[in-house]
Amino acid sequence: MSAHPRLRVAALASGRGSNLQALIDARDAGALPVDFVLVASDKPHAPALRRAEEAGIATLALDPKSYANRAAYDADLFSRIAAAKPDLIVLAGFMRILDAAAIAPWRGRMLNIHPSLLPKYPGLRTHARALEARDREHGASVHFVTDELDGGPVIAQVRIETRGDDTPESLAARLLPREHELLVATLAWVAERRIALTAEGIVFDGALLAAPLDLDDRRQRVR
Ligand code: GAR
Repeated sequence: MSAHPRLRVAALASGRGSNLQALIDARDAGALPVDFVLVASDKPHAPALRRAEEAGIATLALDPKSYANRAAYDADLFSRIAAAKPDLIVLAGFMRILDAAAIAPWRGRMLNIHPSLLPKYPGLRTHARALEARDREHGASVHFVTDELDGGPVIAQVRIETRGDDTPESLAARLLPREHELLVATLAWVAERRIALTAEGIVFDGALLAAPLDLDDRRQRVR
């Protein structure tokens, strides 16, 4: 049995929700010692919300169109998230830029998954940009969220090779299952209290990380 209380997690998702589903499935399989306290979305019809409902998780849909501006939206969203008392927030395909004031209290307690090998390709069209640059490898990153878009400290990455005949769609499709593994593994490390953000940087198993963890480096997965 884990020595730690189960991590209380709130997730934000805007769309399909396949990363969220991977987390739910891992929890159900006993591989992820977390409790999902809320899944929230900016898109009332996001499939991610349906997946959460089917898993018996509380959901919240807040439409940005009902708010005067980003700051007002984010203030309300994050006060409702705080009311659910999560230990950690996971952005699992949440496609909005966040207001710096709203996220400041969550420094070190908010993760994002991004489909590129950060610091390469923050923002959108990451797969197309990797192919346009003729990158031989591509991947995904899980990082702590700061007020710099896709710019916070990177915890872990997964790498895949690009192919000569790749399209952005084929590359995205090949990466997606690896994203799922990366997000599950990283959240598990956090839930096991193996990862923390300090003033010096990310600490993993008590040592400062010199570079992001590589999902496929198995030495990092055993303790
Ligand atoms: C994922 O590929 C995720 O990495 C990406 O959106 C997709 C969501 O898919 N996130 C971003 O681009 C964030 N900047 P999902 O809804 O099926 O999990």
